[in-house]
Amino acid sequence: MSDVQPRHAASSPRALLFAVPIGLLVTTLASLWALADSPAAPSADQILPPAPAVVRELPAVQIEIEAATDPCDDAAVTAALASGDDSAVLAAFGGAEAFRTSVIAGAAPCISLSDASHVWVVVNKARTVEPRDYAPRSLSGSGLMTTTGSGTARTDVSAALATLASAAADAGAGRIGVNNGYRSYDLQVRTYGQHVRAQGTASADTVSARPGHSEHQTGLAVDVVACDGHCTGIHAFAGTPQSAWVAEHAWEYGFIVRYEQGRTATTGYIAEPWHLRYVGPEIAAVYHAGGFHTLEEFFGLPAAPDYVE
Ligand code: DAL
Ligand code: ZN
Repeated sequence: MSDVQPRHAASSPRALLFAVPIGLLVTTLASLWALADSPAAPSADQILPPAPAVVRELPAVQIEIEAATDPCDDAAVTAALASGDDSAVLAAFGGAEAFRTSVIAGAAPCISLSDASHVWVVVNKARTVEPRDYAPRSLSGSGLMTTTGSGTARTDVSAALATLASAAADAGAGRIGVNNGYRSYDLQVRTYGQHVRAQGTASADTVSARPGHSEHQTGLAVDVVACDGHCTGIHAFAGTPQSAWVAEHAWEYGFIVRYEQGRTATTGYIAEPWHLRYVGPEIAAVYHAGGFHTLEEFFGLPAAPDYVE
């Protein structure tokens, strides 16, 4: 599976500026005007004005040269990648926006949007979770009310979700609980199969990912529900105060609403206001500030409405 195709060149944070003086133009003209012996009969040279010596300096021309340096050669990037600290990687790139533009420009070969262990992974109908049996190293519950037996998520994701839910409650938006977090490949086989049996393949493909194509397998996705008194289901989430609060504030806690209304042509799924995808606070802030609505557009990837058979 190929990764990012460069769409447009981006400014490198390491762009160098060279001042190249190309114009030190020295023009020296000597007058060799000989005066005629007889003032009554000047020569043609005597009629022309004298040509003095001229020294003229042209302004220096500023030429901006995009450095060909690879951010992946940066020791800070290498060390952060080796330690598995995604926040440190983003910082070493100069921030999430610099990271994004480097990746889009194809200038960061050490970054793979296919690596499920990083917050920048992109999983969709054209991009599988690799390897097929991938599972996060560390899974935990969030301590929130949970409506299924699959409420865990990556430990850092569950912690961020607990913080989000606490902030929502403090803001008066009500309690948030968890429906599904991490789903293994095998659980996705069962989940998708249930949808196919209930509604047929074409309809199932608009609401459930085929095995190997679900963000839930990365441990970075969580389906949330409203839990006022008791928890309702994911399909009752739209229109709740919790849903409105999440749509506005999830980015502050490192999450994006992955499948927004009106983006089916890009994602291949109908709206899922309950499906939160953790991308970390740095990427989420840039995503929000940039007005993005899909990870595909954020990383300059092609739309993935259909499976590539
Ligand atoms: N419902 C989402 C698309 C999934 O199955 O991963
Ligand atoms: Zn989901």
